[in-house]
Amino acid sequence: MRETIEGLVSRIKSLNRRTLLLSGGGLALAGGIAAKRPAKEGGAHDPYFLQLQSAVKNAGLARPSLVIDRERLSRNITTLKSHLGARMGYRIVAKSLPSIPLLAHVMKEADTNRLMVFHQPFLNAVATGFPKADVLLGKPMPVAAAARFYDHLGPTSFDPAAQLQWLIDTPERLDEYKALANARGLPMRLNLELDVGLHRGGFSDPSTLRPLLERIDADPLLTFSGFMGYDPHLAGVPDLMGWQESAFEGSTALYKAFIAEAAAHYGEAWAPHTMTFNTAGSPTYQMHDATTHATEIAVGSALVKPTHFDVPTLADHVPASFITTPVLKVSDPTKLPVLEGLSGPTRLWDRNTQRTFFIYGGHWLAEPVSPPGLRPNGFFGRSSNQEMLNGSDLINLQPDDYVILRPEQSEFVFLQFGDIAVLEDGAIVDSWPVFSSGA
Ligand SMILES: Cc1ncc(COP(=O)(O)O)c(C=O)c1O
Repeated sequence: MRETIEGLVSRIKSLNRRTLLLSGGGLALAGGIAAKRPAKEGGAHDPYFLQLQSAVKNAGLARPSLVIDRERLSRNITTLKSHLGARMGYRIVAKSLPSIPLLAHVMKEADTNRLMVFHQPFLNAVATGFPKADVLLGKPMPVAAAARFYDHLGPTSFDPAAQLQWLIDTPERLDEYKALANARGLPMRLNLELDVGLHRGGFSDPSTLRPLLERIDADPLLTFSGFMGYDPHLAGVPDLMGWQESAFEGSTALYKAFIAEAAAHYGEAWAPHTMTFNTAGSPTYQMHDATTHATEIAVGSALVKPTHFDVPTLADHVPASFITTPVLKVSDPTKLPVLEGLSGPTRLWDRNTQRTFFIYGGHWLAEPVSPPGLRPNGFFGRSSNQEMLNGSDLINLQPDDYVILRPEQSEFVFLQFGDIAVLEDGAIVDSWPVFSSGA
């Protein structure tokens, strides 16, 4: 791994020069340090990123912008569909694609009206923007947030009684929703969160199910609508000695035990085709190619593939979202405030700190990807205003050229740039507003 500037400075500080010169070990140590000298990296934008740079320049986007490549997005949707088993449905994770036009695009191409929503203001936006959507909550909302959803439901044909499933994780929350339903005379569909191994809450013991179902059945306003068992932990289990397979089998067995318990409870009245049995997420959905107990998978991030989703289980997905931002200033050679005296040795040691580029904005949850070899400076610190990036003299950026980054995740990062710029055939062809986080 490349030695950091901070590492080098502490190394230099800890060396007693005299001791070094006098001792025979000094030469060996110097040789050892030289061998650790970071390799010089860097280069120019490749043709894809050059084209992306031209597209945002031509569109006049001389500010940080979030760009989605529509052709790559479509490729990811096709890939996802190719993994769906014959009866497996697809629910789009709205928080990871937080824009009505983006969701509309995915709903059309993936041919689904199912959305998973995680935030009350987004839920209201979805109910207005997609009156025909089928919505499942991805996390249990405080009952006051549920009440606010109904309070702020504007004019829409979206019918929460038929098109919305609230998520319930504890008996106490069930009682709260029951109280809200009865106070307002609201019919509600309730989906139960299962803990299939993630241990982020939900029900984990099938023997506790019947009393819950009895409570739901006893209230004419409430309907049991299925289960949600999210399993991203499975992707983190090493694919060694059958560990991953046995973890997968364990989580499947638990899910099936809940379904069997519900079937036994309802007997002849059991209507599994009316149920939503949701599972998976981006890192695990491809493990469910042959799954039959679940009726649908929930995936969002894999369609734009931020860097956190550079995982073996998503090897056939391509990055489809980028941040583009102009270079404001180029400073040669790199000079560090107060530590000017150290800047020379630092540059000598790590040639990847030879040049400095200050970019428009910065400090996002994102990683610079083009030109290659750029990185933030640990001494200078991060900046949301004008971030310092360093690189070698192989990087020939000038003011008004662009640096391109990849978001680490989409759900928060996508909300930070205003409208999403849509790239197609080498040009920005559309502009997609993102969700407002709180109206
Ligand atoms: C309940 C649930 N399902 C599915 C997902 C998958 O979302 P993504 O595909 O964007 O990782 C998440 C992510 O947080 C989740 O919480």
